[in-house]
Amino acid sequence: MGGAWERGRILDGRYQLIEPLAKGGMGMVWRAEHISLRTPVAIKRLEPRRSGRADRLRFRREARTTARIRHPRVVEVMDYSGGPEPYLVLEYLRGETVGARMDRPRPMSRWTIVDLIDQCAEGLEVIHRAGVVHRDLKPENLFFCETGGGDQLKILDFGVAHDGRLSLVPPSPNTVVGTSVYLPPEVLAGEPQTHPRGDLWSLAVIAFECVTGVVPFAGTTPSDVYDSYVLQRAEPRLDDGLHLSASLLAFFERAFAKDVLLRPASPRLFAGAFRQAVAGATRWDRVRPRHSTAPPTKPHWPRSTCS
Ligand SMILES: Nc1ncnc2c1ncn2[C@@H]1O[C@H](COP(=O)(O)OP(=O)(O)O)[C@@H](O)[C@H]1O
Ligand SMILES: [Mg+2]
Repeated sequence: MGGAWERGRILDGRYQLIEPLAKGGMGMVWRAEHISLRTPVAIKRLEPRRSGRADRLRFRREARTTARIRHPRVVEVMDYSGGPEPYLVLEYLRGETVGARMDRPRPMSRWTIVDLIDQCAEGLEVIHRAGVVHRDLKPENLFFCETGGGDQLKILDFGVAHDGRLSLVPPSPNTVVGTSVYLPPEVLAGEPQTHPRGDLWSLAVIAFECVTGVVPFAGTTPSDVYDSYVLQRAEPRLDDGLHLSASLLAFFERAFAKDVLLRPASPRLFAGAFRQAVAGATRWDRVRPRHSTAPPTKPHWPRSTCS
């Protein structure tokens, strides 16, 4: 064992830690340097308190699944160490997560949002074709990379992905993995089957949040969020003062169908329908910044006020 992870530490004679970048659910992500190549890399460490056998196996599955999907819209894995301190070496991304972008006061333009959804759908097509369901799509797991010619989106974090080729152990029916407000009702209800259109539900939550600044379904625990689906019959929470155009309401109504088969059939179709809905939107209101502390007003579905 090599002691604490701190700036300057060298891992396996190959990578030197430079600075912590972000703390996720599984551990810290560091900016580091590949010593002989002198290139930047990102190193995701499995937190020591999560280094029991099950977590280590899960972490190795994350590495293998991510490595299997090689595509410009998916973060690239460069190396994996399964030693006493497991870590994953990823291409280093410059830029910010979609979550960080949403936190800035200036809202994204409608065409930035359309582009984000298009790029995400492009990645999801490849992911789903590889027999993988991501299961944890959320703004913190999407990264806008700075490039010379416009932002390139990358999908991160296959930590709870379902990989049809690797999953030997079926997910436990009583365990809900992922972040509640982005999870589809079938996952919150503990259904054992993992459906790729679950990822499209999460993408719809992200699209809704980009457009309005609020998440469509409230709740802090899985059961709160599930209650909000059941009590509101899966209709998005719309606050007073937020009026979505009819084309967007129709899009979200379909994307938030409780029956998975009524949702858009593929990421590509999802993105096409979203683009059309945005093009048809006659008004574009954003109620308030993300994470605003203002309490939500009574949920309703103001069809009569749509324009
Ligand atoms: N390759 C990378 N380059 C730069 N930052 C990254 C990279 N991978 C992850 N991050 C940052 O670290 C955060 C956590 O990474 P993630 O893979 O989502 O871990 P967790 O499973 O712990 O959520 C991300 O939200 C992002 O801010
Ligand atoms: Mg994450």
